[in-house]
Amino acid sequence: MNARSPSETSTTPSPASPASPRERIEQRVRELGPWFHNLDLQGVRTAPDHFLHDYPAVKWRSFADALPADLQGASVLDIGCNAGFYSLEMKRRGAGRVLGIDSDEHFLRQARFVAEVNGMAGEIELRKLSVYEVGSLRERFDVVLFLGVFYHLRYPLLALDLIHEHVAGDLLVFQTMQRGSSDVEPLEENYDFWEKEIFDAPGYPRMHFVERRYSGDETNWWIPNRACSEAMLRSAGFDIQSHPEEEVYICRRREPGRREEGLPWSRR
Ligand SMILES: C[S@@+](CC[C@H](N)C(=O)[O-])C[C@H]1O[C@@H](n2cnc3c(N)ncnc32)[C@H](O)[C@@H]1O
Repeated sequence: MNARSPSETSTTPSPASPASPRERIEQRVRELGPWFHNLDLQGVRTAPDHFLHDYPAVKWRSFADALPADLQGASVLDIGCNAGFYSLEMKRRGAGRVLGIDSDEHFLRQARFVAEVNGMAGEIELRKLSVYEVGSLRERFDVVLFLGVFYHLRYPLLALDLIHEHVAGDLLVFQTMQRGSSDVEPLEENYDFWEKEIFDAPGYPRMHFVERRYSGDETNWWIPNRACSEAMLRSAGFDIQSHPEEEVYICRRREPGRREEGLPWSRR
């Protein structure tokens, strides 16, 4: 995701602002663009020409039923919250504390405006923070959303490890773009050094490295196949509970086991 443009930080209309509430929203939407989240702000669309159309509403509809309908009192961390679509949905399900973090102030400005237009300004906390900095939060959350961020990272497994170590309390909702085979090769515990063919199996866990750009976006770095998403989630300490949609996994945090305790970096 590489949308960039300087824009005003204030959501208060200037004296020259248009008179009607709708016109004011249209003007702020223009000032705060470009948008990735195509939201409906009182009839004003933030990204009407989105290449994925009604996104992320269309994605959310495909896995919304896999999450508890009632999140009464649950704490939620929305990593890479962008303009805050999912943070709002969590609030609508009754979540208590909702914290949205994003490494890009451009999207946080949008999220503040979206919360304000939806009358939730005081209810969703928004903070500029990278996934690599979640340790500084010193808090675990009942639900962690990690949607659409994984493939934008140069160090994706580190991010999963940090989420597990510092902020995941119970549920992790994970979504990633995936490319390559959707087969999952059943793997043995260990292979002989001379076993080479297994690496050519389409369903072997595989990450595709993007050196230049993919989909015109230089922030796409690593795109897993299905087997790789699942293996990395397990390896980072998450048990996959359900896979309601091709790209989405609902996981439960597992306490570190023998393998994780034994990783060389975690022994230091
Ligand atoms: C494709 S958008 C996904 C937005 C939203 N989570 C969704 O699924 O619709 C990726 C978001 O991740 C943010 N992001 C990228 N790298 C990040 C990082 N290291 N830490 C936190 N957020 C990051 C981007 O700024 C962007 O808002």
